[in-house]
Amino acid sequence: MSSDPASLYSRKNPFPGRIVVNRPLSQPGSGKDIRHFEISLAGSGLKYETGDSMGVFPDNDPALVEEILAALEATGEEIVPGNDGAPVPLRQALGRHYQITQPSKQFLENIAARSEGASVLRELLADPLRKGDVEKYVYGMEVVDFLLTHPSIHFTPEEFVKLLRKLQPRLYSISSSPRMYPEEAHLTIATVRYESHGRQRKGVASTFLAERAHEHVPVPLFFHTAKHFRLPEDGSLPVIMVGPGTGIAPFRAFLQDRKAAGATGKNWLFFGDQKAAYDYLYRDELEAMQAGGILTRLDLAFSRDQEAKVYVQHRMLENADELYRWLEAGAYFYVCGDASRMAKDVDAALHKVVETAGGKTPHEAAEYVEALKKAKRYRRDVY
Ligand SMILES: Cc1cc2nc3c(=O)[nH]c(=O)nc-3n(C[C@H](O)[C@H](O)[C@H](O)COP(=O)(O)OP(=O)(O)OC[C@H]3O[C@@H](n4cnc5c(N)ncnc54)[C@H](O)[C@@H]3O)c2cc1C
Ligand SMILES: NC(=O)c1ccc[n+]([C@@H]2O[C@H](COP(=O)([O-])OP(=O)(O)OC[C@H]3O[C@@H](n4cnc5c(N)ncnc54)[C@H](OP(=O)(O)O)[C@@H]3O)[C@@H](O)[C@H]2O)c1
Repeated sequence: MSSDPASLYSRKNPFPGRIVVNRPLSQPGSGKDIRHFEISLAGSGLKYETGDSMGVFPDNDPALVEEILAALEATGEEIVPGNDGAPVPLRQALGRHYQITQPSKQFLENIAARSEGASVLRELLADPLRKGDVEKYVYGMEVVDFLLTHPSIHFTPEEFVKLLRKLQPRLYSISSSPRMYPEEAHLTIATVRYESHGRQRKGVASTFLAERAHEHVPVPLFFHTAKHFRLPEDGSLPVIMVGPGTGIAPFRAFLQDRKAAGATGKNWLFFGDQKAAYDYLYRDELEAMQAGGILTRLDLAFSRDQEAKVYVQHRMLENADELYRWLEAGAYFYVCGDASRMAKDVDAALHKVVETAGGKTPHEAAEYVEALKKAKRYRRDVY
């Protein structure tokens, strides 16, 4: 949903945003490529709020499109139904309309039914109890792998696109505040690149933004309202933010917002990543905000700078008494970043903090955290 119903632009009619800045945040030598983007909204009439996300409709990698065309023995000029049913040339359909990386279940079933060589896949798909095994078997494999390993199957262009899912937009937390940047939105994105089954792979949207979108290749975008992830209306209340890795994105926006609004409440950020020398995102800005007083406390956890892992939740536990005092003073507690492990561990650490510093039983601590959630003082945006 767009946060500005007055604009011409929306998810259904995305605005062609122009990237004005694309710079690395990770230093050379880092194991990651995390980038800062600034996208101009000039002329869009679009407005966002601090805490919102941006939806991006990416294009697929043209090299991958060409590889798939070659495997299909197609020219790309063949006319096929696009994602809205209207006819488009196959090259365009593969470039913009369909998910051509991770395969759909329908595509896998089709391969299993039509190729002699797909006996393992056939066996796994036939057993409804082995869904997890199918996922494991397919993990890291893309549509092109199946085309190349089952060359006996001849797909017509139309038949092929009908087996694909529609290409979906990706969401990104906006890392700027509209109070400071009303005509721009900033993003903080980890470029997804990995090797699997002997091939280099690329995440669709993150590499579209990192490698292919630029001043003359616009980014089709819309805003996704995050009503659940707003700063407290009362600017005098303290705020605690836990955002390792790209989880820092909305908190950069929060800090900008608190500064621009003249909010008097204290701000505490827990940030972490692999190594301080390479992965300390926005180091200069954070140090300047700390020196300027807007960032009251900054606790860092660089996981790979020593033998044993140190994560943001370890820093929370080390500072349990003070963290509990902030909560007792009415602080809002925010978490952003990895959902699969980090958010769960941070939740467990929050319970522990309340237990140890608040002198509560596990049951009482759970009630305390539940009450925070009910009061909308425990807010998460995890993915
Ligand atoms: C509300 C919200 C906010 C978000 N904010 C941010 C943000 O601020 N910054 C940010 O960087 N991301 C953010 N994300 C994540 C983002 O939306 C995308 O999911 C991410 O950028 C990957 O998209 P992609 O198109 O580049 O990769 P995709 O093309 O979607 O590829 C990702 C897929 O590749 C496969 N894969 C990935 N790594 C491996 C591997 N090592 N081995 C095998 N397979 C693998 C997996 O199937 C994975 O699902 C957010 C998500 C949500 C929902
Ligand atoms: N699905 C997954 O398994 C998975 C895992 C990680 C990230 N991701 C996704 O990858 C993208 C980019 O991630 P990112 O580079 O921004 O950050 P990240 O991979 O989440 O890493 C940021 C920091 O968090 C640490 N970390 C790892 N496990 C943790 C835990 N259980 N609790 C607290 N901290 C933990 C990492 O340490 P170490 O790396 O040294 O352990 C690193 O120092 C995001 O979209 C994220 O959701 C997915």
